[in-house]
Amino acid sequence: MFHVPLFLSGLSSYSVSLSQDNEIKAVLVEGSHLVETQSYIKDILYPSSVKIVELDEAIRGRRSIRKYIDRPVPLELVRNVLEAGTWAPSAKNGQQWRFTVLTGKAKKELTDLFRSKLQELSTKMGIQAIGSSLSSCSITEQVPVLVMVWNAGEHGWETELQTVAAAIQNMLLKAHSLGLGSLWIGDIYYALDVLAERLGKPWKLVAAVTLGWPAVTPKPLPRKSVDEISEFLS
Ligand SMILES: Cc1cc2nc3c(=O)[nH]c(=O)nc-3n(C[C@H](O)[C@H](O)[C@H](O)COP(=O)(O)O)c2cc1C
Repeated sequence: MFHVPLFLSGLSSYSVSLSQDNEIKAVLVEGSHLVETQSYIKDILYPSSVKIVELDEAIRGRRSIRKYIDRPVPLELVRNVLEAGTWAPSAKNGQQWRFTVLTGKAKKELTDLFRSKLQELSTKMGIQAIGSSLSSCSITEQVPVLVMVWNAGEHGWETELQTVAAAIQNMLLKAHSLGLGSLWIGDIYYALDVLAERLGKPWKLVAAVTLGWPAVTPKPLPRKSVDEISEFLS
């Protein structure tokens, strides 16, 4: 049996071994996690298909990431994240989510527009009126990949927005499972009109999702207990 250490797509440490019966094993060490996966060559070429974290760890371990290292994200991983979005439930299986993936010059053009709209609002109405949106804007400028998430809203149902939100949550969990950081950005709300107009789609812009390699490991924010937020009627 031999081990070949590899460093792939920002994952902490990845090694491949070939056992006596020629079975290829992919071993991933992510921070303090060691995940060993029986794997085929496909998993080595596309590490995204390796199951990195368990469901509970994904749900509890995902954090909003607001600082990223300067390293590109392979488009293949972005596609994996979008695909996870498409596995969300949707009202009447309508799948009203739509995505525009922005990188490089296209992202810069849009985030410039976002910033100038916020500056305009701040001049007109005061800095208080735009809340935390300037810091959200800085994050969109820094991150390598920005996904604009739309609601195709074909029927005008309230449930279409719920559908898109379900897709976003899947995307954040998948990003986390790949070692990527993400942030759900609702603050694009302040510039919805100009951003949507520039992208020229017939859909409603809902949110932006950042994707990049995390530069920080934020502590979890406190959660309300189940007892605080639930009632059980029988
Ligand atoms: C609908 C929605 C909109 C959000 N918009 C923003 C935003 O514009 N900027 C930001 O920094 N965080 C935004 N967040 C992230 C939340 O602040 C974050 O999820 C929350 O504080 C809990 O932290 P956690 O995600 O690390 O558990 C948003 C989250 C949701 C669900």
